[in-house]
Amino acid sequence: MSERAPITPATIAVTGGRPPHEPDQPLNAPITMASTYVAGGDLEYGRYGNPSWTAFEDVLGELEGGRCLTFASGMAAVMTVLDLVAQGAKVVLPRHAYQGSIMALADLEARGRLHAHLVDISDTAAVIAACDDAALVWIETPTNPALEVADIAAIAEAAHESGAYVVVDNTFATPLLQQPLALGADIVVHSATKYLAGHSDVLLGAVVTADDELYDVLKGRRSLAGAVPGAFETWLALRGLRTLHLRVERAQANARILVERLQEHPALSEVRYPGFGGIVAIVLAEGELAADLLVRKTHVWVHATSLGGVESTFERRRRWKTEAATIPVGLVRMSVGIEDVEDLWTDLVTALDTLT
Ligand SMILES: Cc1ncc(COP(=O)(O)O)c(C=O)c1O
Repeated sequence: MSERAPITPATIAVTGGRPPHEPDQPLNAPITMASTYVAGGDLEYGRYGNPSWTAFEDVLGELEGGRCLTFASGMAAVMTVLDLVAQGAKVVLPRHAYQGSIMALADLEARGRLHAHLVDISDTAAVIAACDDAALVWIETPTNPALEVADIAAIAEAAHESGAYVVVDNTFATPLLQQPLALGADIVVHSATKYLAGHSDVLLGAVVTADDELYDVLKGRRSLAGAVPGAFETWLALRGLRTLHLRVERAQANARILVERLQEHPALSEVRYPGFGGIVAIVLAEGELAADLLVRKTHVWVHATSLGGVESTFERRRRWKTEAATIPVGLVRMSVGIEDVEDLWTDLVTALDTLT
């Protein structure tokens, strides 16, 4: 067969990372359970590579426009990328980035490893000013859970003028709604646990870059840290990735309908939505107690952390002591799933109505 010309993300998601179209080849890449391989090849040992990882990496790499490395979790990917910078270097990070990323940076700073500079990532001028003398600019857009949006292209240009790496955590948008490498980023990071795998049954991380030197460094560090995923996890994530386009499209369509209806609800003081994707944040007018009541009153919506699964989940973010104090205490982050939107609305509005 002639070389396949990748056409659209939907086709890449479905057709990428498969064995060749040859008699008796399985359609799906098998789960390769191996800690070691017969010597003399490219893999050699289980920490260096696995064909099940490669199948997932081929698809995500193609979707993001670079070469992908999969990790044991999103945080394993985050830590490996943060470790790129030299001792004492400055890292710029959104003040409302995922709390795990902020905590990781704070921990590294406390141990003298880095200097952290938190910014409002939606204030482009302030971010550009902070890029001066930075070694790495970390962008998360939309942010978790504040849902602020960054101007990736403008920030990347300023960061590169300062010689800084630009990293984008693309977990919320997915490569279907935002392609950071095309906008000038050097590295994309994912919690593949979320939309990419999409079924709340696997922990996985990923890094994508089009820079071969960075790829080699990150791959080497992944092997040394042993921050590697299991073969079954990557197989499950690839199975999820096959339907990414359908799930994102449906979650986004559901989210847009819910956002429109929620605007007028008297129990809410604010509805935040960046205009795309499946994550919405609502702020309960009566604050913490009302938010805690809401998440316990629904039947379809599940009170759970994490996001990006087929099922709708929500939680009050400040229930976590580590969440930023600038996030409203009554903010509930909603991960809109792919259920019937009328069922989602009825369940939600019934619970909200009891609070007014
Ligand atoms: C935006 C973002 N980045 C990174 C992570 C960390 O990923 P993981 O939980 O897979 O380690 C998360 C987890 O919630 C996240 O929301």
